[in-house]
Amino acid sequence: MTPQNIGIIGAGLMGHGIAYLLANAGHTVRVYDPSAEWRASMPARLQSSLDLLGDDPMLLKRISAHEQMAPAMQDVSFVFEAAPEKLPLKQQLFAELETMVAADTILASNSSAIPSTEIGAKLKHRERVVGTHFWNPPHLVPLVEVIQNEKTSDDTIRKTMELLRDAGRKPVHVKKDIPGFVGNRLQHAIKREAIAMIAAGVCDAETIDEVVKSGFGARMAVLGPMEQSDLVGLDLTLDIQNVLLADLDRSTAPTQFLKDKVASGKLGMRTGEGLRKWAPSEADAVRERLRRFLAEQAQAEKTRAQKARS
Ligand SMILES: NC(=O)c1ccc[n+]([C@@H]2O[C@H](COP(=O)([O-])OP(=O)(O)OC[C@H]3O[C@@H](n4cnc5c(N)ncnc54)[C@H](O)[C@@H]3O)[C@@H](O)[C@H]2O)c1
Repeated sequence: MTPQNIGIIGAGLMGHGIAYLLANAGHTVRVYDPSAEWRASMPARLQSSLDLLGDDPMLLKRISAHEQMAPAMQDVSFVFEAAPEKLPLKQQLFAELETMVAADTILASNSSAIPSTEIGAKLKHRERVVGTHFWNPPHLVPLVEVIQNEKTSDDTIRKTMELLRDAGRKPVHVKKDIPGFVGNRLQHAIKREAIAMIAAGVCDAETIDEVVKSGFGARMAVLGPMEQSDLVGLDLTLDIQNVLLADLDRSTAPTQFLKDKVASGKLGMRTGEGLRKWAPSEADAVRERLRRFLAEQAQAEKTRAQKARS
């Protein structure tokens, strides 16, 4: 793909990872962030990803940090917004962007939950507003949900998917701008059932994690749930659903069990206890295990892609 100029809004956790990913694909990436602290810490965070993945160090030269938005957004063909999750802020940023970029520059929001329909509601050219939901860390997790709202043009979807695919991501087209998109709806359907079972005393949190990791999770990276349903046969899926569905949790609000945990300060790894208990060294070990696993997957994917090209 021809190298492009790309703007990023926000140099935080997601913004710097998206910058790394796109610079690694050969693009020139300008990151706008009003915070001097976040701008100053970005090079070290990028270097840490480079050390982990062993990519070409030249990619760092293609990323620059900017205190002002207008110069950073000059002549960009895409903008990825990764600012804090607040609707008025995102609406304001998109309105400002529209005065700075060309009418066909694609404006993508990385919001986890706010529909891009609302973020772009006040813009003149709404056909170029799209949701791109990256997963953390964006340079290591392959999936990006590309969410088409009622106004997003097919051309915007095509160009966005092409850019992301070329950068080594696995973009999927989500055809309706619904809360949670696809990935978080699936994730929270599991969490609703899991938390309800723990609250009802069926099993503890450790057991839930073991069941997922050693059971259906162990095959999920190569066999999605729809493939698995077709593999075992839809007749069996129907028989199981006939028995099971009426018994599954159907709460439309978080359980009291979860609310009590939060109210008593049991927030998870960062407070030492959540659904499970965590010594600081155990929490660090989990983070490191995840980082290494994702890096190994990314390396394996890179090798596969290189082999396919040669
Ligand atoms: N963290 C995740 O796992 C994750 C995953 C997917 C999507 N998201 C979404 O990505 C977005 C960013 O999340 P994050 O985790 O990177 O947050 P973060 O707090 O790490 O980064 C936010 C950045 O935005 C900057 N910022 C603050 N005000 C700004 C402004 N007015 N203009 C431009 N930048 C500004 C901050 O200085 C900071 O660098 C949110 O919408 C979030 O919902 C997060």
